[in-house]
Amino acid sequence: MVDYKVKDIRLADEGRRLIEWAETLMPVLMSIRRRLKEKKPLEGLKIAACLHVTKETAVLVRTLRSGGAQVSLAASNPLSTQDEVAAALADEGFRVYAWRGENKEEYFWCIRKILEVEPSIVLDDGGDLHVLVHREFPDLAERILGGTEETTTGIVRLRSMEREGVLKYPVIAVNNALTKFLFDNRYGTGQSSIDGIIRATNILIAGKRVVVAGYGWVGRGIAMRARGMGAHVIVTEVNPIRALEAFMDGFEVMSMEEAARIGDVFITATGNIKVIDRQHIELMKDGAILANAGHFNVEINIDALESLASSKRIVRRNVEEYVLKDGRRIYLLAEGRLVNLVAAEGHPSEVMDLSFSNQALSVEYLKKSSGLLSAKLHNVPSEIDEMVAKIKLESLGIKIDELTEEQRKYLESWII
Ligand code: ADE
Repeated sequence: MVDYKVKDIRLADEGRRLIEWAETLMPVLMSIRRRLKEKKPLEGLKIAACLHVTKETAVLVRTLRSGGAQVSLAASNPLSTQDEVAAALADEGFRVYAWRGENKEEYFWCIRKILEVEPSIVLDDGGDLHVLVHREFPDLAERILGGTEETTTGIVRLRSMEREGVLKYPVIAVNNALTKFLFDNRYGTGQSSIDGIIRATNILIAGKRVVVAGYGWVGRGIAMRARGMGAHVIVTEVNPIRALEAFMDGFEVMSMEEAARIGDVFITATGNIKVIDRQHIELMKDGAILANAGHFNVEINIDALESLASSKRIVRRNVEEYVLKDGRRIYLLAEGRLVNLVAAEGHPSEVMDLSFSNQALSVEYLKKSSGLLSAKLHNVPSEIDEMVAKIKLESLGIKIDELTEEQRKYLESWII
């Protein structure tokens, strides 16, 4: 019986080759897979995962299956699915409900489909799955052993659920592991967002005024990489400490209103709404390019852009040209959705190796801690975090020093 919905199952062979490519670049997760395959600690688990359906996610779900779990998969963004990968996974017997270009109803239909198996563990990227389970399936939420959350936006939503006392199962905040956000958010999004902008437009970055909104780990990564390619980088922030840090890191810091007048390329990375709003668009130069690197397509006020425009057309894949009433042209990339996943392939496999190793080990931890964790957000245990870094270093052939006994004692003592 067919229990999947993907764009075209005939893409499976191509998808398998992409997954195999990613596997060669994800040594930590592959070493976890070997252990899980031997010990089968996930036997009997039903997992529903709402993640970007990419070749790296495929490496994760294959790993979870090797440990004995049954995995169903839906996309965490309507435009991020790699259809070849979805086809390969469906062909391997995973329950996959995902295709690139889902509309809003289809997107939530797919998430409901993966809940039909009554999962005991739920993996999410952005919080839509967690919110849907709590809203529509409260009885199921009571029975769920636990969940994980991959991204900052999801953590913010879950914190709000925790504060209001409505969260019904423990969630491991994978995003907050050091081996996740220091690498994935910074180097992963940094590189892949620039990659998405280049694949969409093929513009030269050197010499451009690139405005980065938000100086969290994602904003830092983007600013750093844009500078590395010769851009004049401007940072906008609402947090005075982060703004000062951006300034001392050598970036120009100013308000969006000032930046709007001079920027060539704008990249939002704040997790908030209307960071580029009507009054900013009104000030922009002819030819300004707008891209978003935050989880949801809310950071650029697209409704305002639509209402300011007299016409729009797609000029090339992932580039929409809006002609404003005074003739200025504004280019919106990837419909204002995550530019790195829509216009490129998301974070490189090497960095997802760290994030998804934390995911796999967090699932194992949830199973082991069954009934012991409160219905709150929990950090990834530091032993897991450190183990991921250690295996990654080993895989890179890097040896590091160890404290001597004398040094350890020195650090523990307060006596001069
Ligand atoms: N989030 C960002 N990049 C990703 C990738 N390559 N796979 C899955 N989730 C991602």
